Amino acid sequence: MKQNLDVGQPAVIIHDLSHGFVTPDGGRMDVLQDVSVTVHEREFFTVVGPSGCGKSTLLNVASGLLQPSTGTVCRLKGDRNLDQLEVGYITQDSNLFPWATALENVLMPLQIRRVPKKERVRRAKEWINIVGLSGFEDHYPRQLSGGMQKRCSIARTMVYEPEVLFMDEPFGALDAITKATLQKTILDLWEKRQTSVIFITHDLTEAIALSDRVAVMTGRPGRIRTTVDIPLGRPRDVYNITDVPNFKALRHELWHLLEPELVS
Ligand SMILES: Nc1ncnc2c1ncn2[C@@H]1O[C@H](COP(=O)(O)OP(=O)(O)O)[C@@H](O)[C@H]1O
Ligand SMILES: [Mg+2]
Repeated sequence: MKQNLDVGQPAVIIHDLSHGFVTPDGGRMDVLQDVSVTVHEREFFTVVGPSGCGKSTLLNVASGLLQPSTGTVCRLKGDRNLDQLEVGYITQDSNLFPWATALENVLMPLQIRRVPKKERVRRAKEWINIVGLSGFEDHYPRQLSGGMQKRCSIARTMVYEPEVLFMDEPFGALDAITKATLQKTILDLWEKRQTSVIFITHDLTEAIALSDRVAVMTGRPGRIRTTVDIPLGRPRDVYNITDVPNFKALRHELWHLLEPELVS
């Protein structure tokens, strides 16, 4: 087992970011304040924080979906700036097109990128297979379980090989067993593909099982209170992560940082 000491160049640089929303009465609510963080190539970076502290807003800004009030975000591959087509985004809701089959859903991003037909069918089928959906190519989303829909959504994102993967509580709504198998799937994929991941969760065990580093946010307006290294070896046994000797101390450290930020 080795630690992931293999992180590379900066992949996402967030500098002095603040964001506010206009409230219904015309006022302004500050949601993020002075957030600066750099996530590296091949790094699995997780953000935890109280509900409503601005985690999803941070991910929306980091991925380029939302323009911040102030501050900058750079998404890089070497010296090159990434465009929107090169990032992947997976949320709690699988967001599959209900009128398209599993295979058609996975084909969609390749059609948008004008990948030739033969090649896109080959790649889509390969990804359906990797996520364990072989035999379900022609099923519509409503004919798939919640976990299978999530697998399809992962295939639809990974099929175009994004340089950075943004995940917003992707497994939050799943039962514990399905969640554990998907955590294993995502970790296996990440270990092979070595993209950077920015992952949001409210589950500290999940954060420890998956991450190289975990940022703990304060209550709103969300700031990064501190960032904790997770010095556990890889590959990790996600099913038995709570048995790892350091686990309890890490969970305690994260909880100790998070607890004062929660409103009672
Ligand atoms: N588009 C929006 N317009 C106005 N307020 C928003 C919008 N999106 C989020 N907010 C507000 O910003 C705060 C942070 O939201 P969010 O980033 O979703 O928090 P988290 O993901 O940490 O639970 C919440 O109070 C929410 O109501
Ligand atoms: Mg959220």
